[in-house]
Amino acid sequence: MIPILKTPHGKLYEADCLQLLRSLPAESVDLAFADPPFNLGKEYSSKIDDARAAHDYLEWCQEWLGEMARTLKKGGSLFLWNLPKWNLPLGAYLGQHLTFRHWIAVDIKYSLPIQSRLYPSHYSLLYFVKGPKPAIFHPDRVPCPCCRHCGGELRDYGGYKDKMNPLGVNLSDVWTDIPPVRHAKYKKRAANALSLKLMDRIVSMASNEGSVVLDPFGGSGTTFVAAELTGRKWIGSELDCSSIIERFDALDGDKQHLADIQANKNTLFTAADLAKRRKWGKPLSKDYRIAENAACNCKDNATPDLFAKS
Ligand SMILES: C[S@@+](CC[C@H](N)C(=O)[O-])C[C@H]1O[C@@H](n2cnc3c(N)ncnc32)[C@H](O)[C@@H]1O
Repeated sequence: MIPILKTPHGKLYEADCLQLLRSLPAESVDLAFADPPFNLGKEYSSKIDDARAAHDYLEWCQEWLGEMARTLKKGGSLFLWNLPKWNLPLGAYLGQHLTFRHWIAVDIKYSLPIQSRLYPSHYSLLYFVKGPKPAIFHPDRVPCPCCRHCGGELRDYGGYKDKMNPLGVNLSDVWTDIPPVRHAKYKKRAANALSLKLMDRIVSMASNEGSVVLDPFGGSGTTFVAAELTGRKWIGSELDCSSIIERFDALDGDKQHLADIQANKNTLFTAADLAKRRKWGKPLSKDYRIAENAACNCKDNATPDLFAKS
């Protein structure tokens, strides 16, 4: 196969995912990520059928997931992004081949409330590894959630603030800080593109510089951009590669965006929160862990007193 795009770190094939996956040697990939179409009857520029019968869709997913699992090195990681409805059966399938690590709930509202159903508010990010444990696992630390007015902390960390890591809070399996891709600059790829922050987090957690990252559903190329800009090797396929080629022609916006993302992780406070804390005289990173009265006292964050006299 001949790549349609070659970069210093990556190779992109304008091809069906199964064609690429079947051509890859077994145990050659460190991190495999997939964000397939969700079978919601959406229109794609690649003109795929996105409204299959459920069993057809699941069978197809199992075919490429099986291939992805085959290409993983021992200790390699596989992440699957989908709606909970599909990740439930697909997770059961993956569990026959790989070891389950996490169902990560990524809090993003993606449709309007539906009558007689709960409001769909999270995507599922399944995380599996080949073999008993991951060969690479260094999750980012995230900043403390702070008040948007005064920059004071919104949680008290159970009185263990003095034991907190100065590099930030442990990453949990519920991610509430991933923004939807809506910026005007990214409008053209807003329909399907994932956030660069999400892909940077996954790539940082489960690969090292020089690792091989695979994504068979390139879309607008977010995985490839995250890999390229952080020195990972990458390989991918997409039926219509025009948006990826266009994106790689002008990477400056993504470079700046990634620099901002990286400046705001593995730190106790984001740059914006630090500015607010400075303004309101709250302790900064250095002395925060032992300081008293650093929490937010703003009225709109207070727990309502149900028994207050009106
Ligand atoms: C949800 S989008 C991926 C978006 C991507 N994660 C991003 O951040 O831009 C799914 C993509 O899979 C592509 N696709 C669908 N079927 C495919 C196939 N059989 N082989 C390769 N790509 C396919 C579609 O064209 C679409 O761009």
